[in-house]
Amino acid sequence: MIEGNLVRLRALHAEDLDHHVRWRNDPEVVHWATGGNPHFGPVTQAAVERGFDTMLGLDPADSRVFTVEDLVDGRPIGMADYRDLDPFAGRATVGITIGERDCWGRGHGTEALRLLVRHLFDTCRLHRVELDTWSGNERAVRAFAKAGFREEGRRREAVLVAGEWYDNMLFGMLREEWRESVGAPSGRPEKDAAPIA
Ligand SMILES: CC(C)(COP(=O)(O)OP(=O)(O)OC[C@H]1O[C@@H](n2cnc3c(N)ncnc32)[C@H](O)[C@@H]1OP(=O)(O)O)[C@@H](O)C(=O)NCCC(=O)NCCS
Repeated sequence: MIEGNLVRLRALHAEDLDHHVRWRNDPEVVHWATGGNPHFGPVTQAAVERGFDTMLGLDPADSRVFTVEDLVDGRPIGMADYRDLDPFAGRATVGITIGERDCWGRGHGTEALRLLVRHLFDTCRLHRVELDTWSGNERAVRAFAKAGFREEGRRREAVLVAGEWYDNMLFGMLREEWRESVGAPSGRPEKDAAPIA
């Protein structure tokens, strides 16, 4: 478990399935999370169930999905994940979706991302973390910048949303940048290196 001031990240449970079904069938969530990609949603309960077994069995050495919980009432409000962890290059790709719309714009997504980044740099000792979004998602762009990511490039007009082309924006953060932003020492893990239950 990784705890901040607004949210905690905890391991994915089988009971989280209903939340994932709901979030992935919310058109607003699907719009902002993926630009309306039909592979993300809408989606049937049976399809989420099939994918869920895979998510529950992921090898943390490569990928992992966390549930984001609101610290106020403990309810699951979204998911955060990493994937394609390359132990040789020391990098991984992350993703964040706050599925409960009433939590948008209140700092929960930025903090969840900060906690995930800390886990990857501090506990997993990575060198680089990256993520992406589409250029119309200004809230995500702002949240990524607040969490310490830098824009590194764009795949121009790579995303089609409601008939309009948007850029796929690529963001990255290096270990040294993270270390300076949180004041962590360079030589050893910072804190909270406990396994996530
Ligand atoms: C993107 C997301 C993770 C951000 O988390 P969040 O908790 O909503 O973000 P925060 O409240 O920490 O920060 C949002 C920032 O964007 C700003 N913002 C909010 N709505 C905005 C909008 N429509 N346009 C531009 N900026 C906006 C906020 O003012 C805030 O900046 P500030 O703190 O400088 O004022 C979350 O909104 C989310 O999951 N949305 C749905 C799915 C999604 O977009 N996922 C990302 C896909 S890559």
